[in-house]
Amino acid sequence: MKLHVEPATRPLSGTITIPGDKSIGHRALLFSLLSQTPLHVTGLGDGADNGRSAKAIAALGAKVSREGAAIRIEGTGLDGMTAPAAPIDCGNSGTTIRMLCGLLAGQRFQTTLFGDESLSKRPMRRVIEPLARMGATITGQGTGPDVTPPLVIGPARGPLRALDYQLPMASAQVKTAVLLAGLYADGATTVTEPGPSRDHSERMLAYLGAPLTVKGRATTIDTRGWDRKLSGDSFIVPADPSSSAFLVAAALLAGAGEVRLPGICVNPTRTGFLDAIAAMGGTVDLEDQHHDGPEPVATLVVRGLAQDLVATEIGGDLAVRSIDELPILAVIAARAKGTTIVRDAEELRVKESDRIATTCAMLRAFGIACEARPDGFTVEGRPDRPLEPGRVHADGDHRIAMAAAVAGLVASGPTVVDDADNVATSYPGFSAALSQLGAIISQG
Ligand code: S3P
Repeated sequence: MKLHVEPATRPLSGTITIPGDKSIGHRALLFSLLSQTPLHVTGLGDGADNGRSAKAIAALGAKVSREGAAIRIEGTGLDGMTAPAAPIDCGNSGTTIRMLCGLLAGQRFQTTLFGDESLSKRPMRRVIEPLARMGATITGQGTGPDVTPPLVIGPARGPLRALDYQLPMASAQVKTAVLLAGLYADGATTVTEPGPSRDHSERMLAYLGAPLTVKGRATTIDTRGWDRKLSGDSFIVPADPSSSAFLVAAALLAGAGEVRLPGICVNPTRTGFLDAIAAMGGTVDLEDQHHDGPEPVATLVVRGLAQDLVATEIGGDLAVRSIDELPILAVIAARAKGTTIVRDAEELRVKESDRIATTCAMLRAFGIACEARPDGFTVEGRPDRPLEPGRVHADGDHRIAMAAAVAGLVASGPTVVDDADNVATSYPGFSAALSQLGAIISQG
């Protein structure tokens, strides 16, 4: 599928309901499997990645049905999962496969997990290594520099061993995998991370009554004296800040009458992109701030045109807190005066594509100088004239495709984005939402 984008000729305006957060959606599905009580999940997004987690829990014994606007999930509890009849297809979803590794490490049956071409290249040693130290058996494919899917997990012969683990990288997927395995371990499992990766698992496992404590960057699951029961009534999935970032950027760069995005998750581990935009001189207002279940939410509002944007530096904790938004922040940087520097973001190399390479290639297609570094990139902003009309190959990466489409709004002619099918993994309604705001974009 291709995206065709025309330069914006008038300010964008309107209110868009962004689908549910992908990260929270995965957790709502996978954690419901572990519950003794049925859970109602509202606000789940319609992306294909969440669909993979839904199918996976059904394959492991959950009963998943629709009840009005909610999804009702009757889980199996910790010890009632059944062996899946066939290998589980995780599609494009790194979160599904890595979190399942943790969930399955302590099961007494064997499971095979596989995925699409992109997922089959992604590194899995980061989950296998700590889980193997806990006594799990996981094997993958080992011809490249890392271990890759398909993965074969289990069967476990007894309880896992509790582990005190220092994560080598800030990864919420790995942190969650180890904590889930910790539910099946014989003591206190602690994960300490070097940076503030998203903390939805901690919030949601605590809601279910898991024996979890958080002290600074260390999270512990201590099963000693625990009755091995998790339970709850509902999970509310707030709107996805990572999807919202594309529309925020579109509104800032193309100009906005008023663009309103209600109910966006503003958990501080996810709002690095808003901080980076503020540092560049862009204004995004947060209105109607409240909590939806354990997560803070707000309406994001953009008014006017972001003029006089300036370059910034994104590194350290800010890079962790904006890791999925760095491609779209790079597009904003292309319209900011000066050289924006992104560093401490080597994790971009192992996302759905090598996002250091694909972000730079995308910007260069629009005539913007972008230089790759081992741990990030630099962008030479050019606010004084439009971008050149781009022909971009998204390399099957949803976030590169959407970032390129937004860049096309401020180019001097039509833009084509090739290989954009995977937009459907996170935000199938992306083109429709941009059209609703007044942009001219079509799929074909
Ligand atoms: C995710 C965590 C992040 C993020 C990914 C989703 C999650 O990866 O990039 O899109 O839902 O836990 P890390 O595991 O590297 O933090």
